[in-house]
Amino acid sequence: MPLEFEHETRSAEETIAFGAELAAQLRPPMLVLLFGELGAGKTTLAKGIIHGLGAARLEDVTSPTFTLVHVFGHQPRVYHVDLYRVSSPAELDSIGLDDLLTEPAVVLVEWAEKLTLRTDWPVIEIRLEAPAADDRRRLRIRDRAGVLRGLARS
Ligand SMILES: Nc1ncnc2c1ncn2[C@@H]1O[C@H](COP(=O)(O)OP(=O)(O)OP(=O)(O)O)[C@@H](O)[C@H]1O
Ligand SMILES: [Mg+2]
Repeated sequence: MPLEFEHETRSAEETIAFGAELAAQLRPPMLVLLFGELGAGKTTLAKGIIHGLGAARLEDVTSPTFTLVHVFGHQPRVYHVDLYRVSSPAELDSIGLDDLLTEPAVVLVEWAEKLTLRTDWPVIEIRLEAPAADDRRRLRIRDRAGVLRGLARS
């Protein structure tokens, strides 16, 4: 059953901690789509998720803005993708996202509005917003497969 809920954080640390809570519920295969303006906190949340999955140290999760894809871990394999600089379908193709979705993995995508992809993988959409010019962030979560049921209640 699809699930929608919201979560607010008051600092980057709280967003990282929430990422770790999400990670505890994630099993591959899983596609996590991250939406939000520049500086909304997508990479910060990805840090929490990837570290929470045990795939990397916090300081090793950095923005894949220029390299487009970072690969972490082994079980599960984690891909951290940033589509910010992608400006054409050919460029999107060159990343080979289809190939990433052939073996079970956790795939995180920043600027996911640029994605044009069909998959039967479970998808979690997370929209990050800064309602004011401070450190508060609102996270709106749409979990089509309902894997985050435990979190939504807390
Ligand atoms: N509650 C919060 N959650 C997340 N980040 C926060 C929060 N409060 C302040 N910040 C700061 O906001 C910035 C978020 O940057 P981050 O790189 O995560 O954003 P982003 O959405 O990935 O941006 P980009 O579109 O450039 O990739 C960081 O400097 C972080 O420390
Ligand atoms: Mg980012």
